[in-house]
Amino acid sequence: RLLIVDFGSQVTQLIARRLRELDTYCEIHPFQNVTEAFLRDFAPKAVILSGGPASVPDAGSPRPPQAVFELGVPVLGICYGQQVMMAMLGGRVERGEGTAEFGRAMVNATGKPLDLLEGWFAEGPEQVWMSHGDHVAALAPGFEVFGTSPGAPFAITADPARHFYAVQFHPEVHHTPNGRQLYANFLKIAGFTGDWTMGAYRDEAIRMIREQVGDAKVICGLSGGVDSSVAAVLIHEAIGDQLTCVFVDHGLLREGEAEEVTGMFRDHYNIPLIHAEEQDRFLDALEGVPDPEEKRKTIGRLFIDVFQEHAGRIEGAAFLAQGTLYPDVIESVSFSGGPSVTIKSHHNVGGLPEKMGLKLVEPLRELFKDEVRELGRELGLPERFIGRHPFPGPGLAIRCPGEITRDKLAILRRADAVYIDQIRRHGLYDEIWQAFAALLPVRTVGVMGDGRTYDYACALRAVTSVDGMTADVYPFSHDFLTETATRIINEVRGINRVTYDITSKPPGTIEWE
Ligand code: XMP
Repeated sequence: RLLIVDFGSQVTQLIARRLRELDTYCEIHPFQNVTEAFLRDFAPKAVILSGGPASVPDAGSPRPPQAVFELGVPVLGICYGQQVMMAMLGGRVERGEGTAEFGRAMVNATGKPLDLLEGWFAEGPEQVWMSHGDHVAALAPGFEVFGTSPGAPFAITADPARHFYAVQFHPEVHHTPNGRQLYANFLKIAGFTGDWTMGAYRDEAIRMIREQVGDAKVICGLSGGVDSSVAAVLIHEAIGDQLTCVFVDHGLLREGEAEEVTGMFRDHYNIPLIHAEEQDRFLDALEGVPDPEEKRKTIGRLFIDVFQEHAGRIEGAAFLAQGTLYPDVIESVSFSGGPSVTIKSHHNVGGLPEKMGLKLVEPLRELFKDEVRELGRELGLPERFIGRHPFPGPGLAIRCPGEITRDKLAILRRADAVYIDQIRRHGLYDEIWQAFAALLPVRTVGVMGDGRTYDYACALRAVTSVDGMTADVYPFSHDFLTETATRIINEVRGINRVTYDITSKPPGTIEWE
């Protein structure tokens, strides 16, 4: 396996992603954890030193242990990683004054051949993406220059004999179009054969879960979403009935959702499941609470209480399983940003393990969302389930702006079901990242069958997105929208007006609250 030492670059996870695409297994570890002992244990076949926000000339700026260069394996330094390599191997790095370079740059070959650059410069200069303040001012002994850009005379450097490579730009980003080739070359040099598959990951994950858990009992909170479901099925495969799932039904789920989850896990997979039917507790607590943040916090608080109560009945539990994904992990280790403003309090169960005295099992920690889906397929989860749109923890509560009532929730559930049915019938579900109906707290006047109506308005939302951080409105056809509006008004009692939300994110958020 390959080790990526993370110095906190915003794009470190993309390195992992590129390597996975090349069917190679790698792990990212923050530089603080990479000690000499760690290196010995890990025994990497190759090492990549990531970029990062620190400045090499600063006292106390992060360094890997010198032993990285004594393992006898290929090392690739990227941006900060390049500079650290130079400084540690006897070169010099200078603070950028007027030499900072951000964005697109063109790199020219110096003409000397290098195994790392196979397939590069075939059609002249290569476009790369730079993002650096400091720069290398003198090469370490043994190093030569293989590529230069106007702002970076040492854009590509290497000590070919020792298989040390150091580049100033980021080959992992989209704006370095030929970057994948560079990683493929590096892997070939290190002797990787690209034989890592999801099947191999599954076996490895099962082995590791058994090793970590032994014969202890594990609790897993099921939300009905893809991540916790995949985690549960994987863990069940590893340790069987030592696993019990807890599914908290807060009364804010979509139509048919509770039946689907309990049916699948309890009946199909035979996984011991506690269905915590706590609808009244949640809905009573939310009565008379119109404020979005107050609603979110009420639900979050109750969720923890309820989960703890039900899970507390499982005797001898020592572990809590969570479907934490790689992007969540990296968000918590990177030190990229200062404190950011809270737009919405997210529903999460971060404090639960300590509160309950449980250790964590997180078998998806190394995976990206689409890899989790692939693992789900590998484990035989139905396609329809794996491809499901994300659903927020606070559920329908944040799709019902203002105070929620049981009646409003019933209306919303129906409207949402009709809308999603329309999307599926028209074969659009997989093109859309997330779609749902929101019930607006306004009643408007209408006319149906010669009579006056005074009912709720509902808004339809559908967006495309990669990660939920930004989103575009999905461009439905006019016909689709009018057909859907007609169906909702005809089939759902309580709604007499339908609107389509055409706000992108930003400035809107995806959910209404
Ligand atoms: P927003 O509304 O912030 O949503 O643009 C971005 C994505 O996050 C989901 N979301 C949540 N997911 N707990 C979750 O698990 C939450 O509290 C929560 N709030 C929003 C939302 O559905 C969208 O996919």
